[in-house]
Amino acid sequence: KSFLLLQKLYETHDLSKEEWLYLLEHYTDALACSARELAHQVSTHYFGKRVYLRGLIEFTNICHRHCLYCGLRSENENVVRYRLDQETILACCEEGYKLGYRTFVLQGGEDTYFTDERIEALVKGIHERYPDCAITLSIGERSYASYLRFYQAGARRFLLRHETASKQLYESLHPHMSFEHRIKCLKDLKTIGYQVGAGFLVGVPGQTMEDLVEDFCFLKQLDPHMVGIGPFMPQKDTPLGNFTSGTAEFTTFLLSLIRLMLPDVLLPATTALATLDPKGGEMGLLSGANVVMPNLSPIEVRHQYALYDGKVYVGTESALCQQQILNNIENVGFIPDFSIGHSPRCC
Ligand code: 5AD
Repeated sequence: KSFLLLQKLYETHDLSKEEWLYLLEHYTDALACSARELAHQVSTHYFGKRVYLRGLIEFTNICHRHCLYCGLRSENENVVRYRLDQETILACCEEGYKLGYRTFVLQGGEDTYFTDERIEALVKGIHERYPDCAITLSIGERSYASYLRFYQAGARRFLLRHETASKQLYESLHPHMSFEHRIKCLKDLKTIGYQVGAGFLVGVPGQTMEDLVEDFCFLKQLDPHMVGIGPFMPQKDTPLGNFTSGTAEFTTFLLSLIRLMLPDVLLPATTALATLDPKGGEMGLLSGANVVMPNLSPIEVRHQYALYDGKVYVGTESALCQQQILNNIENVGFIPDFSIGHSPRCC
């Protein structure tokens, strides 16, 4: 029956809650293998062998939030905090531009220093200098008016993982945050016209298969342009530091299912997956992922962006390193694509 459900998902891109639950509960290596083959077929149909590259700039690790799993949570005093100034961020873009990148992802903690004015100036600065590049923001929750302002300044994409679509689990993992507000942010971003990325954690402590069913149904309904999922990874200075990580196998299975549900979605093989398993990145691509986000942050600060323990620092610090990234993509039969890479649903 689970194979029939997989086939149904492949054909109709939708399942009922009961069907999702059955599929997730009957996960086996053989089922995952079939899911991977179907997902690979679907992504090849929509994107060919192309894998989009996005340059990631982690511009601040200062955060006023208290997310139980995250090493950047404000309570963590064992992390050396940093914040890049506009000039340094522009230098990262310049470096990336020279290497061929045409999308810059500005990701950071929820750092109150970066007021709307400062983010707006930053986006404008990058947009003016690199009008042929896409600017993606990943800076957490703000108001509709703020999001609109950043859009008008030139940002066109926004990543805001919903983290989990179970209200109860969401609120237990994120003290003082509201699930409804998170969802409102995602809807606001869509209304404004951003290409929106949502996504969730796999194997975070307390997560059940029912919770994951909620994630699939929520994503189907939201219909985002991008979906970022990765395994939960413990970070020793957080309250969840002693729990075990999610698994690479189950994460890649879920990547395949997302590809089957949202055939033309942009789906990154995430750093967490690559950290968990040396073959994670490649496994992700073979399971339906079609985006890779190498790190363009200055080398000196990379280890300080410690979301979780052991985070790999695959970056572009040298021509050699850049070549390595491209080789890894090519070794599994894909073609690195440095074009702006909009969602096929936009342009
Ligand atoms: N393990 C895995 N992913 C994490 N993130 C934060 N902390 C962890 C962790 N311990 C993810 C969140 C966030 C993204 C930037 O990093 O999903 O949205």
